[in-house]
Amino acid sequence: MNKIILTGDRPTGRLHLGHYVGSLKRRVELQNSGEYEKILIMIADAQALTDNFDNPEKIRQNIIEVALDYLSVGLDPTISTLFIQSQIPELTELSFYYMNLVSVSRLYRNPTVKSEIQLRNFEASIPAGFLCYPISQAADITAFKATTVPVGEDQLPMLEQTKEIVRKFNAIYQEVLVEPEILLPKNNACMRLPGTDGKAKMSKSLGNCIYLADSPEDVKKKVMGMFTDPLHLQVSDPGHLEGNTVFTYLDAFCEQRHFAEYLPEYSCLDELKEHYQRGGLGDVKIKKFLNNILQEELAPIRKRRKEYEKDIPGVYEILKAGSEQARIIAAKTLDEVRSAMKVNYFDDEALIEMHSKKYEN
Ligand code: TRP
Repeated sequence: MNKIILTGDRPTGRLHLGHYVGSLKRRVELQNSGEYEKILIMIADAQALTDNFDNPEKIRQNIIEVALDYLSVGLDPTISTLFIQSQIPELTELSFYYMNLVSVSRLYRNPTVKSEIQLRNFEASIPAGFLCYPISQAADITAFKATTVPVGEDQLPMLEQTKEIVRKFNAIYQEVLVEPEILLPKNNACMRLPGTDGKAKMSKSLGNCIYLADSPEDVKKKVMGMFTDPLHLQVSDPGHLEGNTVFTYLDAFCEQRHFAEYLPEYSCLDELKEHYQRGGLGDVKIKKFLNNILQEELAPIRKRRKEYEKDIPGVYEILKAGSEQARIIAAKTLDEVRSAMKVNYFDDEALIEMHSKKYEN
């Protein structure tokens, strides 16, 4: 079977290092592997509106930011199709049909929805659109017959729900839809990159993010101010690795070659960790090391962003062309879904013929 990737992000803000190690970097690798027949990357504006319906301007302003972030990490619009969810009306129609296949209690049980309801104080009154967004996500994935969905761990329940919808659809109607596989980040540090303050997750509201578009000075300032080990007061004190943000970031970003380049006194990350735990290794040194690694990683991204920033109409053109391409694929699947669900009347000559016969006397 042909391998097809579909993934995306909500345009609620600029993308940060959490997005980068959690998914973006992998997408670029997959894109460049040449193993995929199609790669579709979606800006999920309609989904973002399910909990930002009262702030459409925020979503509107962030579409270009996310598009620039995509292009700057190396997603190549000549290989990958970048598009905007709301511009594919076929997705809404698919969602409407899939709604018949999912119970309300199943939606309430979706762990991601559950925690988001609490987060947004939706307990008393939850918008139907928000409750149903896992169904719309199933439409996003299945419209393109995606086999592979590279996302973070928090999206596992969405993929589960999608698979259930696919199985049910295929069992009741016809084998039209494809069951997707989730592709999770390679290690735990990448799965859950904490904020610079050591808090669970990078989040704009906590102000603990390093953005892909941050200046070198900002990145350095944020790294030098990172949460480490509150018990590691003097260089000679033994340090702890658990919950130590700098080491979590090193787990996510550090490669063997970085030692020769920036810290030749050590041969590998294990040796650095051992010294830290023993005592005698200061936070400033490990922060400088991390800063060097991040600057190296971010420099080409920043440079590409600057290039694309010079041609914003061109970026909108990329999204427009991508949306047109994506729409053709989604329309084809929708056609198949409609015939499987028997809501194709005018192109079914046999049906019209049968009804003619019925009323012949
Ligand atoms: N739910 C995803 C997020 O919050 C965004 C998204 C919408 C998505 N539709 C998708 C991701 C389809 C993968 C596949 O980041």
